[in-house]
Amino acid sequence: MSKKILYEGKAKQLYETEKPSELIQFFKDDATAFNKKKHEIIDSKGVLNNLISEYIFIYLDKNNISNHFIKRLSPREQLIKRVEIIPIEVVVRNIAAGTFSQRFGIDEGKHLPKTLIEFNLKDDENDDPLVSEEHMKVFGWAKSDEIEIMKKNALQINMLLSDLFKKINITLVDFKIEFGRFHSKNVSEIILADEISPDSCRLWDMSSNEKLDKDRFRRNIGGLIEAYKEVATRLEIDLSNI
Ligand code: TMP
Ligand code: ASP
Repeated sequence: MSKKILYEGKAKQLYETEKPSELIQFFKDDATAFNKKKHEIIDSKGVLNNLISEYIFIYLDKNNISNHFIKRLSPREQLIKRVEIIPIEVVVRNIAAGTFSQRFGIDEGKHLPKTLIEFNLKDDENDDPLVSEEHMKVFGWAKSDEIEIMKKNALQINMLLSDLFKKINITLVDFKIEFGRFHSKNVSEIILADEISPDSCRLWDMSSNEKLDKDRFRRNIGGLIEAYKEVATRLEIDLSNI
């Protein structure tokens, strides 16, 4: 099967399939941070993210969160529904960390009074700027009803994932998700797309507060693969082939 590459991102590639409505999502080993200013290849990260993201998308689907995942094809590939990606990163925060802490001078680890949703425009050239709902509407990146669907889904996903991770002694600090417009016949539906993995979440061990996510790379802590394997093992994902 000769596959035509459609899109190459920092950590993933998308390929066409024979079916116009389906794509292959390939997970690379590239780790980047600060808009690619920091870049490394970390052996088997792509395989772990493929497995963890598969597990989470199946779990969300079982809990009525429509998403693009169809099935895993290989250690690094999954078959997904083709969507038109809404160019917005939806960030959900339960606890202050990362750019939020920097922006407001609030210590990392402080619980927010209420779950916060933020939006960043997917625009590497301008370092994914923070945008408001007004920006999204005025510039046409997302319509009002689409924004409402993304917010409602983001909060539901937060509850489901917080619950899932709590059961394995992990605190879900924050995460980033992306949505797409899935067009079929005459209907268009907003569904969850991209990936959910320790690359796109902050996950802290509940007992020790140890970081089990990409901050180990961003902050030069080391041990990224061990941390991702720990998350996968606690989720009871089979790692016998890694
Ligand atoms: P931040 O504190 O760096 O803004 O990140 C918030 C959350 O979003 C964190 O879990 C990491 C995730 N994230 C991504 O997945 N991709 C990105 O490009 C950024 C900036 C954050
Ligand atoms: N968007 C960031 C980058 O690749 C990744 C991150 O910090 O999560 O530079």
